[in-house]
Amino acid sequence: MSSLVSVLMGSKSDWDVMQNASQTLDKLGVPCDVRVLSAHRTPDQLFEYMAQAEKQGVQVYIAAAGGAAHLAGVVAAKTVLPVLAVPMESKLLGLDSLLSMVQMPAGIPVGTLAIGKAGAVNAALLAVAVLALQHPKYREALQKYRDEQAKAVLAAGDPRKG
Ligand code: RP5
Repeated sequence: MSSLVSVLMGSKSDWDVMQNASQTLDKLGVPCDVRVLSAHRTPDQLFEYMAQAEKQGVQVYIAAAGGAAHLAGVVAAKTVLPVLAVPMESKLLGLDSLLSMVQMPAGIPVGTLAIGKAGAVNAALLAVAVLALQHPKYREALQKYRDEQAKAVLAAGDPRKG
């Protein structure tokens, strides 16, 4: 099946964190494409890739970047599909990335998640929630994920008992 979600990151150095997004999508059975493409270093290749990805059925983008962190904003500038941004930890602990991503000017929205792993996982879950509007099987997969998560929390019981 062709990819419904595109997971982009500005550098291979983002992969340690962003593998959490692709693993979450895999767990929920959502086919995804994963690419390193940079708004600054490979802008032409980014646009070429996006044109192809959308022709092949991508419906949601997840874009991770650190520092100046323009990737999600640039992706959003070139598409009307939903774009979810994951700020990467950087020299300023990711606060620079977060502020860069979250402060998009009115008119070009980017949905910005938490810095790092939590953002990567939640971007994937939110992408699946978008797809679930049209695909009941992804709604069921999300519900199952929630149920298992709740079960794991309850299984912890009294933490004093190890
Ligand atoms: C951003 O600059 C990337 O998304 C990465 O988070 C950061 C540093 O990139 P590298 O210098 O490690 O390639 O574009």
